[in-house]
Amino acid sequence: MELLEGIETRRSSRAFKSTPIPRDVMEKILLTAGRSPSYTNTQPWEVAVVGGQKKDELSKAIFELAKAKAATSSDIPHPQSWPPELEQRFREHGARRLATIGVARDDTVGRENLRLSNFEFYGAPCVVFLFMDSTLSSWSIYDVGLFSQSLILAAHSFGIGSCLQASITNYPDAIRDFLGLPPTRKLIIGISLGYPDPEAVINTYRSTRITLDDFVQWYE
Ligand SMILES: Cc1cc2nc3c(=O)[nH]c(=O)nc-3n(C[C@H](O)[C@H](O)[C@H](O)COP(=O)(O)O)c2cc1C
Repeated sequence: MELLEGIETRRSSRAFKSTPIPRDVMEKILLTAGRSPSYTNTQPWEVAVVGGQKKDELSKAIFELAKAKAATSSDIPHPQSWPPELEQRFREHGARRLATIGVARDDTVGRENLRLSNFEFYGAPCVVFLFMDSTLSSWSIYDVGLFSQSLILAAHSFGIGSCLQASITNYPDAIRDFLGLPPTRKLIIGISLGYPDPEAVINTYRSTRITLDDFVQWYE
């Protein structure tokens, strides 16, 4: 797959086939993501790859917390408010995604099921958690972001869909306990990975983008 085409055609998948990702393919994806640039080549990313029964057990643990609306404590706090233009984009995304799957705004059950499906990793056979040392600065979060984009693009080149999920970082202590990691490992993001289910309506959702004029100023 050509590079620009890969960047342009990647999109989040939110329903997957159960087909596992072969180990050699996952290794290639992770090695490729490891080529990402980082602040003074510090490569702060630490990756937990969770599949098979372990993935089901972890999903169950955090699904129960999410269902019970247990108090959340993301290592990176979620924004409490947005500048108006960003809030508009965020609301538009939410509304269009609900419309795609035929869930009305006042359908509290449908909306809750959509929220909870995050914690089932959207049925993906594999979920990857990215951590870094908790003493690192925001520059390292930036680096882990670059790693994330490389990872999902490399996955895409193998026909593997992905969904970055801040929502599944809501219960970092439960995830660390499950993985046997100490509190010094800061959870940055979770990424569900698998072969996209082409029949799933949710996978027909297409996000929009602002135009060049909306985000570029030329100085010449
Ligand atoms: C940091 C970050 C967190 C995200 N968290 C979630 C999430 O919790 N659940 C979800 O379904 N999608 C999540 N997404 C996916 C975004 O909604 C998606 O990337 C955006 O709407 C653009 O759509 P596209 O990926 O299909 O191009 C997240 C994306 C990023 C970059």
